[in-house]
Amino acid sequence: MERTFAMLKPGVLQRRIVGEIISRLEKKGFQIVGLKMIQLTKGLAQEHYKEHLDKDFYPGMEKYITSGPVVLLVLKGINSVQILRSIVGPTFSPEAPSGTIRGDYGFSMRNIIHASDSVESAEREISIYFKDEEIIEYNDNNREWID
Ligand code: PPS
Repeated sequence: MERTFAMLKPGVLQRRIVGEIISRLEKKGFQIVGLKMIQLTKGLAQEHYKEHLDKDFYPGMEKYITSGPVVLLVLKGINSVQILRSIVGPTFSPEAPSGTIRGDYGFSMRNIIHASDSVESAEREISIYFKDEEIIEYNDNNREWID
């Protein structure tokens, strides 16, 4: 089982669609093993997006990403990095097809969700935001309390 990382950006909180987006991730079949809401500092944004620090778009992106709280998720599943990227859709929301999360909810470069682009990026990003003990491995096959 592979882990990946998603960040619901400030637009998701502002539009009151946190539950809706998480629901789409759950319905796809990801197991949530880490979940928290934080306010990104400039330092955390710079650490996360360090390969983009010298890009023209970085200041605008930092302003957006630090403008309000974000929701962080560690998701588990077979091939989870690739599957999450495919349901999230392309970076530029106007070009993202309907049916993808970015295609259904965004219209600008300020897209609503980040998804790690490789297993290595996922592990790096998870380690920026989560301590080991904040990630909970559990067996969700046992439904004796709900069925
Ligand atoms: S690059 O240069 O091709 O590697 O960059 P790209 O993969 O297209 O984008 C990297 C991340 O920067 C975000 N981005 C922006 N955010 C806000 N405003 C603007 N103008 C902007 N341009 C790029 C883009 O969404 C990527 O972030 P994530 O979190 O991965 O979606």
